[in-house]
Amino acid sequence: MFRKKLMAANWKMYKTPAEARTYFRDLLPLVAGHKRDDIAVCVPFVCLNAAVESAAGSAVSIGAQNLHWDAEGAFTGEISAGMLVACECTHVIIGHSERRRYFAETDDIVNRKLKTALAAGLTPIVCVGEVLEEREANLTEDVLRRQCRGAFHSIPVTMAEKLVVAYEPVWAIGTGKTATPQLAAEAHSIIRSEAGKSFAQELASAMRILYGGSVKPDNAHSLMSQPEIDGALVGGASLDPKSFAAIVNY
Ligand code: 13P
Repeated sequence: MFRKKLMAANWKMYKTPAEARTYFRDLLPLVAGHKRDDIAVCVPFVCLNAAVESAAGSAVSIGAQNLHWDAEGAFTGEISAGMLVACECTHVIIGHSERRRYFAETDDIVNRKLKTALAAGLTPIVCVGEVLEEREANLTEDVLRRQCRGAFHSIPVTMAEKLVVAYEPVWAIGTGKTATPQLAAEAHSIIRSEAGKSFAQELASAMRILYGGSVKPDNAHSLMSQPEIDGALVGGASLDPKSFAAIVNY
């Protein structure tokens, strides 16, 4: 099954709108004409407008890093799917390990956010991954299965077509440690088998599973050569347009 890769940047809490404009001015010529993969840059909410305007007419899609599960309401500080769509944002990261860890996001919250994002027509990038203690205790498979089951719960297969999952082992995020292509490929096949159970085999085989965790220009090629790895979710190395472009053009 051919799966077009998705090369996605996650800026996390970096950059102002002015810095976003400069970034796209520098990035776009470096990825102009790139057709092999899809490209998305997930920016802080306040940069969405600047990013959408700057990337207009290019092959780069713009994403957010979070959303609320309700359409509207008294939820101070939150942003809805409808607001993201109105900003012409097309992608959204859900359940990043930093949100699970620092903002107490549970599998149930991830599930609610995922339903909302899919219903709004956004392309969700759902993050799953084990922490170091879990890997050392041989719990990786259990953790991945639990997180996937929780995220996918009661979502009809007809709604899940755009779903993207990112495998981000927490011990590899921002640490310079990367999962070996083989470890990543093993985790990806666990995720794909869980998607097959929750949805359907056909959807699971078509679903893109990205790898995230210290992806850099010098390891992108070996990771992206794995047939099970359908793209990357890049943190630190995505902040510099040259280094993100080098990853995209691995
Ligand atoms: P780093 O690429 O900085 O390790 O971050 C990965 C990540 O968390 C992407 O969402």
